[in-house]
Amino acid sequence: MRESVMNVALLGLSTFTGLCAAASGCAPSLPPRPTVVPFPYNHGKHHAISPPRTKTCYVHAFGNGQDDSQTIFSAAKACNNGGTVALLDPEYIIGQALDLTFLQSVDFIIQGEIRFTEDINYWVQASFKYAYQGASLFWQFGGVDVNVYGGGVINGNGQVWWDRMVTNTTLQRPILVGVIGLQGGMFSDLSLSNPPNWFHFVANSSDLIFDKMTMTALSNDSNAAKNSGESKRNSHMEEKSRLTDLEDGWDLYRSDAIVIQNSYISNDDDCVSFKPNSTNVVVQNLRCTGSHGISVGSLGQYLGETDIAGKFTSLTARGENKRLMIQKRIFTSTTPL
Ligand SMILES: *[C@@H]1O[C@H](CO)[C@@H](O)[C@H](O)[C@H]1NC(C)=O
Ligand SMILES: *[C@@H]1O[C@H](CO)[C@@H](O)[C@H](O)[C@H]1NC(C)=O
Ligand SMILES: *[C@@H]1O[C@H](CO)[C@@H](O)[C@H](O)[C@H]1NC(C)=O
Ligand SMILES: *[C@@H]1O[C@H](CO)[C@@H](O)[C@H](O)[C@H]1NC(C)=O
Repeated sequence: MRESVMNVALLGLSTFTGLCAAASGCAPSLPPRPTVVPFPYNHGKHHAISPPRTKTCYVHAFGNGQDDSQTIFSAAKACNNGGTVALLDPEYIIGQALDLTFLQSVDFIIQGEIRFTEDINYWVQASFKYAYQGASLFWQFGGVDVNVYGGGVINGNGQVWWDRMVTNTTLQRPILVGVIGLQGGMFSDLSLSNPPNWFHFVANSSDLIFDKMTMTALSNDSNAAKNSGESKRNSHMEEKSRLTDLEDGWDLYRSDAIVIQNSYISNDDDCVSFKPNSTNVVVQNLRCTGSHGISVGSLGQYLGETDIAGKFTSLTARGENKRLMIQKRIFTSTTPL
């Protein structure tokens, strides 16, 4: 009952268009896209509704630790403009930096685990780099109308990076999920584990909802999952600093109309950090363990830049938060925090 099979150009990728009849065995069934709505609060701006997707690209993992990044990239191209990229296998390996900023109306369903390779030398040179706070990304999502969901795991294999930090305190470590210039979409029902650096960097983006995200960073040895990028080591104060830097949950930069809700995060730095020029952000029903909570971070950091971080609503975040409850205030770099 498969209507058509097209573009099986690449091993590991099959593309279906149209619908399969139920239980016909023509293609694995896909979980429905979750309905994600801001609740109970909203920033008052319209959230664009994604139209249904009309084709599906199934990505078959090579297995045995082989790199699946080219297949995932090809699937994103083949299913761009209205498709679903289905990652249904138990494990995918990403060993190459993936620039997914061309996306137009695409869903990604992640059911298994996506793991990034431990090749520090490769990632240090190939990751996407941005001037702002030296951000470095394994992959980046951008474009218009992108939804990522499915109950799966994105694993940054942070341990090798934390261990390397012991001998290289200036190591530039990738952020686990890069969202650069994405207008419209959501990330829902995903687990993020062991990012080398922050969990999310969201920049130049608007109209996004993050919902039901579970984020944990746990070192398996005595090298804390909590290393900073600063070259500080010995004294007590410096050790303290080293242990409390840089595993932020969400870092929002130059972004508007963002909702973060119904999520759990166990980390060591900010749960949500508002960098310059983030506006209309709602944070609600977050459970933050071990973090500072919510901070308006790094404003006024660059000379001659005006930073505007305005209209926050932060509600019902629980945890050991030391900074919390930023309620509808307009911040500028000169506002005392
Ligand atoms: C800790 O993580 C490293 C790097 O991923 C891995 O090689 C090692 O086997 C892990 N050790 C344990 C005890 O899980
Ligand atoms: C530390 O890592 C950076 C890459 O992030 C590299 O440029 C630098 O040479 C490394 N330093 C040492 C001492 O290995
Ligand atoms: C965001 O947009 C600005 C202006 O176009 C650009 O300079 C910057 O590189 C973009 N991305 C990030 C992460 O800052
Ligand atoms: C923030 O927005 C203001 C006003 O639009 C602009 O002047 C400034 O350059 C922006 N800063 C950053 C870091 O994007």
